[in-house]
Amino acid sequence: MLIGMIDFTQLPRLLRDRWTVSKRDLAMLALTLQGKHPPPLIPLTQVAAGKLAVQPRSLRVQQVIRETPDAVTMVLSDPAGLPIPCLPGQFFTVLVPLQGQIERRAYSASSYVADGATLTLTCKRIAGGRVSTHLWEYAHPGMMLQVLGPSGHFTVTPQPGAQRRLVLIGGGSGITPLHHILQAVLSVEKESSITLLYGNRSRADIIFADSLAMLASQHPERLMLRHVLAMPDENFVASSGILDESTIDRELATLPKEDGSEQYYVCGPQGLMEAARAVLLRRGVTPLRIHEERFATPQLLSSELPTAPQTVEVEQRGRVQTIQVEPQETVLEAALREGMTLPFSCTMGGCGACKAKLVSGEVVLPEPNCLTAEERVAGQVLLCVAHPRRGSRVVLP
Ligand code: FES
Repeated sequence: MLIGMIDFTQLPRLLRDRWTVSKRDLAMLALTLQGKHPPPLIPLTQVAAGKLAVQPRSLRVQQVIRETPDAVTMVLSDPAGLPIPCLPGQFFTVLVPLQGQIERRAYSASSYVADGATLTLTCKRIAGGRVSTHLWEYAHPGMMLQVLGPSGHFTVTPQPGAQRRLVLIGGGSGITPLHHILQAVLSVEKESSITLLYGNRSRADIIFADSLAMLASQHPERLMLRHVLAMPDENFVASSGILDESTIDRELATLPKEDGSEQYYVCGPQGLMEAARAVLLRRGVTPLRIHEERFATPQLLSSELPTAPQTVEVEQRGRVQTIQVEPQETVLEAALREGMTLPFSCTMGGCGACKAKLVSGEVVLPEPNCLTAEERVAGQVLLCVAHPRRGSRVVLP
């Protein structure tokens, strides 16, 4: 079913937007040729020597696509032509040197590339977001990016012959992993069907609008596309509202009756995530069928944080180093401050790269994070979000 459609009355506006972006790109290109812009990226090795146990991979930006006034897609490839494999739904951690520091941000691979020849990362500029603004302003063909990954368990492994019923619920840039999943499943699984419920502020904010409309027209029997806009546009078919509990409930109620096999994938702002979970649980969806991806680092309540510095022994390859962890610090932050070299990637509890075993003491971790129930029972913790409540000892694998 095609609900979002290309509206040719919007052509002048689209051309105007494209022209604005092209003018900026041309200006940037001119400055680049003069050696003035973008600011030179500092080689990672000069900034963070000795701090990275897992070395990032250098990828070259091949193409930059301005998706919306605030979102930009970078198409990346390996300079040596090596593939960049990842599962639909996974993310990469991008390392950006800014003012002498390595900033890390996780961006989902946003499009399906069957042979892994390229990787697309889509980044939405957010107010006050240093990395997103930097990438939005300076991403250009030829630029090198350092990335770690892929990571994450918010995935679907497409299998020919599978018959899935997927319901994807996304808001804003939360579409990025969902778009990848959508493309992959529709391409590989001829018997699977998908509903996408996608909320945005306005029509201009819809990332991948053309791609979604094209997929819906190519797969009218298997893709139900529903746009929800807070500021409706009379020339664009969409429900009106924001994806809160009542809107999500209303939209889900119009879908074909559930048969208990549906898998729900949710990605978007915090409010949307909470609303979707509440509605799904109320509708009787079991937690195991709800898959969630959060872009923000989960936070502990201040009442859950330790009130005094704690001593933590960190054992790695048979060597033990004792560190002091301040009340607001994570174990990983304190270890890096002390000069230790530890494995880590996303720094937000989403990838598992910093897993260690807690052998004594007590640490508290914010939820949600990527540990499985078995790993928790086995005493695994994530050092990037772990706060020690008392003297503890952790052992790295
Ligand atoms: S670095 Fe990704 S979970 Fe800790």
